[in-house]
Amino acid sequence: MSGGRPLQLAILISGRGSNMLAIARACLSGRIAAHVTVVISDRAEAAGLVRARELGLQTATVTQPRGEPGFEAALAATLDTHQPDAIALAGFMRILSGPFVARYLGRMLNIHPSLLPAYRGLHTHRRVLAAHDAEHGASVHFVTAELDGGPIVLQSKVAVEPGDTEATLAARVQATEHIIYPHALGWLAQQRLAWREGAAWFDGRRLDAPIVEDFRAAACN
Ligand code: GRF
Repeated sequence: MSGGRPLQLAILISGRGSNMLAIARACLSGRIAAHVTVVISDRAEAAGLVRARELGLQTATVTQPRGEPGFEAALAATLDTHQPDAIALAGFMRILSGPFVARYLGRMLNIHPSLLPAYRGLHTHRRVLAAHDAEHGASVHFVTAELDGGPIVLQSKVAVEPGDTEATLAARVQATEHIIYPHALGWLAQQRLAWREGAAWFDGRRLDAPIVEDFRAAACN
């Protein structure tokens, strides 16, 4: 992270891992000054684990069932083994407790498929279509104890097109996720993005509103 050492990054996944792949490729190609030290899944069958191994990345699984004590302790122990500077949640489908989040506060980012603070939680594409919204997108935010509620750093905006289905909209939003998540992590690696006084800071200024990458006129899929 400092003195030329790349940001040591742990990526947490539960499923397909397309964001993990986008981040890993940005690291491997040198587009961002980060190194994926480990990809951790809470599901042994997550397709992303295979894709991570194909890229030569180290992987680990922490699979205690939901609600069972010990999951977060095991996750923390796995993270401690790899000593990451930062953690990227990338489709990681567990809610992390306040004490766990506090341990990594300011060092953990998440990507959420909506223009937060709108549509926290699940089924965002379906809810956007049901509301007849004209625009949708994704948000990269610092993780705090409040679910999908931490300071927002960077958003992508896409248009909701006539005839969009949940699947077409999800694909268009995901294509932008693969662009903005590596961007935000690259800023973290360069220390342009920082956590201070409970807020996100960019280039020495407190981010009172997220940075927006506007894809409404672009074809992303
Ligand atoms: C993404 O849409 C992300 O916004 C959400 O979960 C999904 C993960 O997809 N948090 P993938 O596993 O990265 O393909």
